[in-house]
Amino acid sequence: MKQVKQPVFLCGMMGSGKSTIGKILAGELEATFKDLDDLIEKKANMSIPIIFEKLGEDSFREAEKNTLIEESQRNEGILALGGGSLQNQHLVDHVKLQGWLVFLDTPLSTLVERLKNSKNRPLISDKTTQELENQLNRLMRERLPLYSQAHIKINTEGLSKKEIVTAIRKQLTNYEQ
Ligand code: S3P
Repeated sequence: MKQVKQPVFLCGMMGSGKSTIGKILAGELEATFKDLDDLIEKKANMSIPIIFEKLGEDSFREAEKNTLIEESQRNEGILALGGGSLQNQHLVDHVKLQGWLVFLDTPLSTLVERLKNSKNRPLISDKTTQELENQLNRLMRERLPLYSQAHIKINTEGLSKKEIVTAIRKQLTNYEQ
């Protein structure tokens, strides 16, 4: 990894753009990109909806926690976290000791628009738009106290992908000086 000394972890709600932005950021920084959900799926040899269906959410969270701890200690690249993977204060503290934690802060209305037709996220599948909004609102309220401890917070509203990546890079430079 040439341009940042520490790994970068992207957190935020589902639909906030963690994977999309993470890939672009990794390209610009000549760093590796990984997605925590992909790693969990590979390890379990099952898709996330199947893990939820067959093993239940608690087993998914356990696998998510173990994979996050393992992966964060590798000390390289950009890792997009799942929306629920900062499950508690201990995990936030752990991740922040391993690298830079970046929070993509995206308003509820934008998340609802982006996730209306999402098929492979078990927590929000088969919902009316109103139910989706209520569910995302509830999850966001629960998670904000953890997300907001990130080193870097980017309000993504009105920004293009390019602008979001530039904003992250600018703040990373400040941290790494
Ligand atoms: C979840 C978010 C998903 C995935 C799972 C649960 C959540 O990841 O880990 O469906 O609890 O918010 P993305 O944030 O990448 O969609």
